Amino acid sequence: MKLFLDTADIEEIRTVARWGVLDGVTTNPSLFARTSGMTYDEILAEICTITDGPVSAEVVAEDAEGMLKEGRHFAKIADNIVVKVPMSETGLEAISRFAAEGISTNCTLIFTANQGLLAAKAGASLLSPFVGRLDDINEEGMVVIRELSDIIRFHEIESEVLSASIRHPRHVTDSALAGAHIATLPFKIFQQMVHHPLTDKGITQFRADWDKARKALEAAKG
Ligand code: G3P
Repeated sequence: MKLFLDTADIEEIRTVARWGVLDGVTTNPSLFARTSGMTYDEILAEICTITDGPVSAEVVAEDAEGMLKEGRHFAKIADNIVVKVPMSETGLEAISRFAAEGISTNCTLIFTANQGLLAAKAGASLLSPFVGRLDDINEEGMVVIRELSDIIRFHEIESEVLSASIRHPRHVTDSALAGAHIATLPFKIFQQMVHHPLTDKGITQFRADWDKARKALEAAKG
């Protein structure tokens, strides 16, 4: 199970990389809009100096030629760039043409197993169903993760299922149990996964007992 950071914030990426648990990064235009002072290209180049794992860069063009132009440009930034393409008829065409050129793609905005199957057949390396946005509209996002992961394994397809739009730590556990190869998480959820009240309380207690024991020993020695 690989864990990616879903962010364009360089400091967040540096932090999780230091923990030794970062397998890749996904960005999108909305995440880029939350940053300031750097172009999208500059951010992508910087991220690729921090991680060797796949770094998704999303196209915004709505026609295949435009998607190909943007994607080819991103692919030149670093070897680990993966071009993120939204699911659509045009998106499928772009994905299959990128595949023919040897450029890896991440098909985004997947909401059904059938969309994921089409993206895999077109040649996408990563398939990104949006779990949280399905839950938001009273559907079961995890069903799509389970169905698509089963299809991929049953038919021995090479694409990987990337569980996206993760809203809480339970989504990560459930994605892993449902067979997702990867989950991409906001920084806050990485932090939430680290902490547990009993862990934090235990650390404080061990430290207090250690200090108490040392003081008692010093007092006994006079
Ligand atoms: O990578 C994009 C995806 O994770 C979006 O998440 O929270 O905007 O639905 P969200």
